[in-house]
Amino acid sequence: MKVYNFSAGPSTLPEEVLLSAQKDFINYNNSGMSVTEMSHRGKVYDEIHCEAIALLRELMGISEDYHVLFVQGGASMQFEAVPLNLLTKGKADYVVTGNFAKKAFEEAKKYGDIVAAASSKDKNFTYIPDVDAMKFREDIDYVHITTNNTIFGTRYTKLPTPSATLVADMSSNILSEVMDVNKFGLIYAGAQKNIAPAGLTVVIVKKDLIGNPMAICPTMLKYSTQASDNSLYNTPPCFSIYMAMLTCRWLKKLGGIKEMQKINEYKAGLLYDFIDNSAFYKNPVDRTDRSLMNVPFVTGNEELDALFVKEAAKNGLVSLKGHRLVGGMRASIYNAMPIEGINALIDFMKEFQQKNK
Ligand SMILES: Cc1ncc(COP(=O)(O)O)c(C=O)c1O
Repeated sequence: MKVYNFSAGPSTLPEEVLLSAQKDFINYNNSGMSVTEMSHRGKVYDEIHCEAIALLRELMGISEDYHVLFVQGGASMQFEAVPLNLLTKGKADYVVTGNFAKKAFEEAKKYGDIVAAASSKDKNFTYIPDVDAMKFREDIDYVHITTNNTIFGTRYTKLPTPSATLVADMSSNILSEVMDVNKFGLIYAGAQKNIAPAGLTVVIVKKDLIGNPMAICPTMLKYSTQASDNSLYNTPPCFSIYMAMLTCRWLKKLGGIKEMQKINEYKAGLLYDFIDNSAFYKNPVDRTDRSLMNVPFVTGNEELDALFVKEAAKNGLVSLKGHRLVGGMRASIYNAMPIEGINALIDFMKEFQQKNK
């Protein structure tokens, strides 16, 4: 039975993408072999690699002022790579809006004078601090934000505008809504939510930012290493990059990120409206800061929450357990979650409420 998979990551991928990969799995493009088997130095793979980069550029409107890099180590490795590459004055400000934002902040502290310019920890990360009220220090290298907070279900609807470079962890909302790349010096994202299977991390970085890594920066973490070899310095995660290419083709056919955003707003709207109109379920996040990708909710009774997760799974709605830092439930509804999946979840929520109110 095909289930609706609400996992926060790795996450559901578009069915069309999976079918296409399945069709070509053994014999890709009449090469007589699978993408999983071929040399990353060969012509067939090179076309995949270049198309994936070109499609990302096209979809996100990434100009030639930026490199698009494919690296490994997950978004977590970027918690190190960002300070190691960008701290030239030795100072950066971080906005701490959740667990991953905090991890990025803690890692960066090893490499310089790092300060939390704002945080939403006081209310268990249920909101995004007012960007207009954010005060950043003078003479810093960059400001780091997390555009969507996967665990807590918040997102920036307005970006801070520091005079320093803006760096964003966009792992859980890349390709889900229109973003002006030009506002950022660097964007990074683990692929395993909106792009591809795990193993690939996308880095979009302004070309003029990569020339001055710290002396201790490992060769593999230098953006300049990856940039000068078009992300082929060593063996890249070829299959994930191939899947990223297929996802980008799917997204382009659908009408691009603008269309995707409309669909995402509609899908999230259905779920939030249902929760807000029910006296049984509650979403703890400030309405203005709600994520389009991750929707946490609770019944207010831990036993009922556990029963919900169990019963939902029996009904083909899986991976709805909330993160341990929040509890309750969380529906991750990335680009690939079809509207039918949202409707099936809402129907189940109604039924569960009837049985347990
Ligand atoms: C916003 C965000 N940042 C960073 C990470 C860590 O990513 P990875 O597991 O690729 O290191 C995650 C993982 O879910 C995430 O959601």
